[in-house]
Amino acid sequence: PRRTPLIAGNWKMNLDHLQAIAFVQKLAWNLKDAKHDFSAVEVAVFPPFTDLRSVQTLVSADKLPLAYGAQDLSAQDSGAYTGEISGGFLSQLECQYVLIGHSERRTLHGEDDEQVAAKVKAALKHNLVPIICVGETAADLELHGPSAVPVAQLKAALSGVSNAADIVVAYEPVWAIGSGQAATPEQAEQVAAQLRNVLKDTLGEDVAARTRILYGGSVKGVNIAGYMREPNLDGALVGGASLDIDEFSSIVRFQK
Ligand code: G3H
Repeated sequence: PRRTPLIAGNWKMNLDHLQAIAFVQKLAWNLKDAKHDFSAVEVAVFPPFTDLRSVQTLVSADKLPLAYGAQDLSAQDSGAYTGEISGGFLSQLECQYVLIGHSERRTLHGEDDEQVAAKVKAALKHNLVPIICVGETAADLELHGPSAVPVAQLKAALSGVSNAADIVVAYEPVWAIGSGQAATPEQAEQVAAQLRNVLKDTLGEDVAARTRILYGGSVKGVNIAGYMREPNLDGALVGGASLDIDEFSSIVRFQK
């Protein structure tokens, strides 16, 4: 099956709700001006939780063909979990996606593979498409080579996932995030091919063939086309460059 490329902008802890409204409106105008075909390249933004309601209002009022999601969710449905956000709340805000296991969650908030797997299950339960983030640190790369850690992380994240599930995988080498030192398309493709094998072995050929694998780590307008030419890469998870409307728009409009 053909996999529709996905360009996902992870805002991290940036843009308050007024800035989010201005950003989404301008992005929509930019893409409309450029006659962007959203069925050819899907575009999604990942604002902070506090912006999601504003983004929902705007997207539904103006019928913008823009997808959005949260940057994290709780593995629990409800209860005494101060500060946590449930998948149920996110589906009520009509989020389609949720990022899970981003390296900043893993390193700064101590999320382990088990928690990531529980969150993946929670997302699927609430009809959210999990974007499962995996990637090796510079130390992992030196010790184990490029694919061992991401492969192990993906296997762990998929434990208990059924082969009917709709998921996305994002390969983000930690050393490439926010560093300006992006992996080469060849490096990213090599790991993506291994990740697709994991999908095949755990969830079967069909899921492996239809699941999108994104690359993330210092993606910009000038380097996106290289990744999109690779057979196992189906889009990008963009951090810093997703906060600049013109830069993000140029990534969305990549030329093969
Ligand atoms: O989720 C996005 C990634 O962490 C990539 O961030 O594009 O700023 O390197 P970056």
